[in-house]
Amino acid sequence: MTMSETPAAAGADRRTGEPLPQELMDPGERMDREELRAYQLTRLKRTLRTAYDEVELYRRKFDEAGVRPEDCRTLEDLARFPFTTKADLRDTYPFGMFAVPMSQVRRIHASSGTTGRPTVVGYTENDISMWADMVARSIRAAGGRPGHKVHVAYGYGLFTGGLGAHYGAERAGCTVIPVSGGMTARQVQLIQDFEPEIIMVTPSYMLTLLDEFERQGIDPRGTSLRTGIFGAEPWTEGMRTEIEERLGIHAVDIYGLSEVIGPGVAQECVETKDGLHIWEDQFYPEIVDPITDELQEPGAEGELLFTSLNKEAMPVIRYRTRDLTRLLPGTARPAFRRMEKVTRRCDDMIILRGVNIFPSQVEEILLRTPGLAPHFQLRLVNRARLDHMTVRVEARPDAAHVEREAAASSVAAAIKDGIGLSVEVEVVEPETLERSVGKIRRVVDERSGR
Ligand code: DLL
Repeated sequence: MTMSETPAAAGADRRTGEPLPQELMDPGERMDREELRAYQLTRLKRTLRTAYDEVELYRRKFDEAGVRPEDCRTLEDLARFPFTTKADLRDTYPFGMFAVPMSQVRRIHASSGTTGRPTVVGYTENDISMWADMVARSIRAAGGRPGHKVHVAYGYGLFTGGLGAHYGAERAGCTVIPVSGGMTARQVQLIQDFEPEIIMVTPSYMLTLLDEFERQGIDPRGTSLRTGIFGAEPWTEGMRTEIEERLGIHAVDIYGLSEVIGPGVAQECVETKDGLHIWEDQFYPEIVDPITDELQEPGAEGELLFTSLNKEAMPVIRYRTRDLTRLLPGTARPAFRRMEKVTRRCDDMIILRGVNIFPSQVEEILLRTPGLAPHFQLRLVNRARLDHMTVRVEARPDAAHVEREAAASSVAAAIKDGIGLSVEVEVVEPETLERSVGKIRRVVDERSGR
C-alpha cells in the first residue's frame, strides 16, 4: 500500500491514502442517493411493522404515541415515532427486545455497562452476515484489501469489538489474527513475527502497545503495519497525529455500538479522513437536541439516533446513542451522509462548579503540549464542599524537570482560558498511570454522593 499526498477535505496537510476502486465496492455502496432513499423507505416501513407486531415494548410505545407502522409514508415520518433508550433495553432484560423466536437467534452479545444490568443484543444468521458485510466495507474504506493480514486486538467475548472485526476481516478476504486484548508483550512479538498490514484495536490500547514496542527497543515505525482501524471510544485529532507519527501508519476511525450492531455502523475513508460515512443502507441516522428532544437541521450538533433497516433479531427504532455529533453530506462516498468524529458523549460531560467540560477537550490540550505523554486521567474530588478536578498526565520519558513544570502551567492556563475552569495539573512520572487493554476510563470520580 502506498501513502500518497492528496489533499484531504478536512485539513489539506493531513496525509491520506488511496481511494477504493469502484469495482471493489459492494452493491449497497454503489447506490446513488436517490436509490438509497427509496431503499431506506421500503426497509424502514418493514422494520416498523415487524417491531410493532413482534416486540411488546414497541407496540406499547407506538400505541401510547398514537402512531401505527402504516403512518410512515416518507422517511421524514419517522420523526413521529417514539425513541428507544438504554433504559428500555434494561427493562426488557434479557431477551424482551427480540423480534424472532430464540431458535433463530444465533448469537448474543452484551455490553457490560458501568451501572445496572448489562444490555443484551441478539443476532440471526442474516444479522451476523450483514454485520460482516458492513465491517468488510469499513475495512476496505480504511484501505484494507484481500490478502492483507489483520491483527485484531479488540476484546473477544460478549463485547462486539473482537468478533465483529473478525467476521468482517474474513468477509473482506483478509487473513485474521485473532489476538484479542491483553498480553501486551506477546502482541508486539506477534506483530513482529506475523507481519500484519492492519491492526484493529482501541486507540488507548494502541498507545499501550506503542509504549511496549519502545520498551522492547523496537522502532514501531519499522513494523509491517500500514493502517490502524481505531474505535470503541472517543479519540481526538491530536491522538490521530500522535499514533500516525509514532507508528508511521494511517489511523482511521470506526464507529459502532452493540445496540445497533457493533463496530461497522460508520467508517472513516482513508482517502479523506474527514469524519465517518454512515452505512445508511443499514442504519438510518437522525440528530436530536439531547435536552429538548427536537429533531435538528442537517449540520447541527446533537445526539445521534439510529433506526436499523434490515436487522431481524433485534430491530431498533430511533435508538438514542448518547453520542454527540453532526450529520454532514458525503464526500468519498457521496450517497452516504457523514458524521463528525464522536469526541463527546452526553454521559461524559463533567459539570464542575457550573462549567461543562469533556475529557476530549483536555486530551486536545495535553496532546499539543510539549513534554507530555498521551496518558492522562481526570480525578474529581470534593474539598471544602467544592468540586475540584486534577488532571494527572504522564511526562514523556525524555522531558526534563523544567519542561514538566512549564507543561503543567501551560495546561492549567489553556484549560482556564479555553474552558473557563481552574484545575490542578499534576505531571507524573512515565509509566505510572493505569494502562488500557480495551476501552479506557478517563474519569475517576471520587466526589461524595456519586
Ligand atoms: O464499542 C462497538 C465497537 C467496537 C466500535 C470496536 C468500534 C470498534 P459498545 O461497547 O456498545 O460498542 O459501545 C458503544 O462506544 O455509543 C460510543 O460512545 C463509543 N464508541 C464506539 N466507537 C466510537 C468511535 C462498541 N469511533 C459506544 N468514536 C458508543 C467515539 C465511539 N466513540
